[in-house]
Amino acid sequence: MKKQFIAGNWKMNLTMDEALGLARKLCDESINSDVVDIGVFPAFVFLRDICEILRDSKVYVGAQNMYLEESGAFTGEVSGAMLRDVGCTHVIIGHSERRTIFQETNSMVNSKLKAALSFGLKPIMCVGEKQEERDADQTSEVVGNQLSEGLAGLTSEQVKKLTIAYEPVWAIGTGKTATPEQANEVHTFIRDTIKSKFENDTAQNIRIQYGGSVNIKNADELLGQPEIDGALVGGASLEPGSFLDIVSAAGRLS
Ligand code: PGA
Repeated sequence: MKKQFIAGNWKMNLTMDEALGLARKLCDESINSDVVDIGVFPAFVFLRDICEILRDSKVYVGAQNMYLEESGAFTGEVSGAMLRDVGCTHVIIGHSERRTIFQETNSMVNSKLKAALSFGLKPIMCVGEKQEERDADQTSEVVGNQLSEGLAGLTSEQVKKLTIAYEPVWAIGTGKTATPEQANEVHTFIRDTIKSKFENDTAQNIRIQYGGSVNIKNADELLGQPEIDGALVGGASLEPGSFLDIVSAAGRLS
């Protein structure tokens, strides 16, 4: 079994005091990084301080998004170079909220992945189908397109640096989770798709997280699936207790 990767996507939540407090709590925990990797993804404005707090810890810090250009007249955007500069090592690319609310396309996801990699950031690339797509039996087609267009032009070496997060859109923030079997089935499809486009070694080693209403009640079962290598956690990552419980579940299973 691969080392699990548990990432907390804080989204547009928490005050500065709450965000820094949460980071300090995680910093004080002794996390066995031989067994599980942990990352937090706070809002842009908190990144610099949180990178500072977690600098000597085992917790990775990343952003929830970035723009694809290095610098220039792109009002309101933040570049990968800037993220690197403040100490980030990771970045989430193509989260479904970016895709649906901010109209990000597979081609933008592709450009952002290339930009992130060129600045030495490790992306978590999100994929996943909407409820109506699942109902219409289009999950493989949708996720397959997200992968083939999103990863177009990347080399096997570059793909090895990614984590993929499978997040069925209907399970995000809804309390509805994919069953462990449903999730494992899509994870298997994702790994097979990567294998068909890149080297087998790349497909076997890439970590595929599940995301969508992961909490301590369902973490054991989801993380216990053979093709699930971690979780991208939203709501349950905003409390140190629930996040660390999920981290412990991953540690038990690794
Ligand atoms: P959730 O969010 O755990 O609150 O469903 C997951 C995500 O959007 O990454």
